[in-house]
Amino acid sequence: MTNTPSATNEPEYVLGTNDAELHRLGFQHRLWFVPAHRLWERAGIAPGKQILDVGCGPGFASLDMAQIVTHTGRVVGVDESPPYIEFANQQAQDRKLPHASFHIGDVTHIDQVLAEQGVEPGSFDIAYIRWVMCFVDDPTTTINSIVKMLKPGGKLLIQDYFNYDSMRVSPISEAFETVIAAIAKSWQEHGGDTDIMGKLPRIALDAGLTLDHIARAEIETPRPGNTMWNWPDSFWPVFIPRLVDLGYITKAQLDAFFESWEQISKDPAAFMHLPPVYEMMATKPV
Ligand SMILES: C[S@@+](CC[C@H](N)C(=O)[O-])C[C@H]1O[C@@H](n2cnc3c(N)ncnc32)[C@H](O)[C@@H]1O
Repeated sequence: MTNTPSATNEPEYVLGTNDAELHRLGFQHRLWFVPAHRLWERAGIAPGKQILDVGCGPGFASLDMAQIVTHTGRVVGVDESPPYIEFANQQAQDRKLPHASFHIGDVTHIDQVLAEQGVEPGSFDIAYIRWVMCFVDDPTTTINSIVKMLKPGGKLLIQDYFNYDSMRVSPISEAFETVIAAIAKSWQEHGGDTDIMGKLPRIALDAGLTLDHIARAEIETPRPGNTMWNWPDSFWPVFIPRLVDLGYITKAQLDAFFESWEQISKDPAAFMHLPPVYEMMATKPV
């Protein structure tokens, strides 16, 4: 589940500034930690490494990486949300991880944001970007800007959506499918890209990188009662009522959705096909 833009004049990542969304991102990170860690290992994350977390949110992944690179390494996070950056810097202090630091800025020009902080191009071994490229207005400029910050031989790691609207529940529910189609439509119509991972390998190649790895991030299939079932469950109340406000679904369709979800959540035979998250690793030439 993601964090879908609104149709208003509010900032693009409108769900990203309140405590409920911050906690949801923490829960989400916990659930997706294993595929994240596997990808970090594939890239050689280890003590001493210099890591850039692009669109780091409240820093849940960044602070885990700071523990792994230890005080001999460094983690720098950038996000446009001031409350998230404040939270992440406070966490770094509270958890005694002074080699993690966080800065406010637009990642489309992350090289410029970091230049203002005195961070030189070619500083990082690894740049990690999870669930951010699906929001940025200009993915090509963003990737080129990130690549400038990598050392020669540095790795670009991305985890993001492809085929988002294939999300489905079994037993198949018409009420569910109506709402999923509306989520994808509203997101696409307001600047998001629910298939962004389909475009990123070409953008990376055009940026001069070599492609090392593309795969679907593996997780267990959610069933009622397992922890992953609560991932979509934590997203519905945050976003589905907004679809009514934005005119994508009616109140009756919202009610039908929640009634159907409640029934499915009691069905021991149920399972869910989540929006697929893909991952990519690419290397900057030496
Ligand atoms: C779904 S959250 C993911 C946070 C984090 N990467 C994670 O995996 O937990 C998306 C984040 O992207 C940030 N974001 C979206 N567009 C951005 C931009 N152009 N510049 C900086 N941050 C951006 C939002 O503020 C939000 O924190």
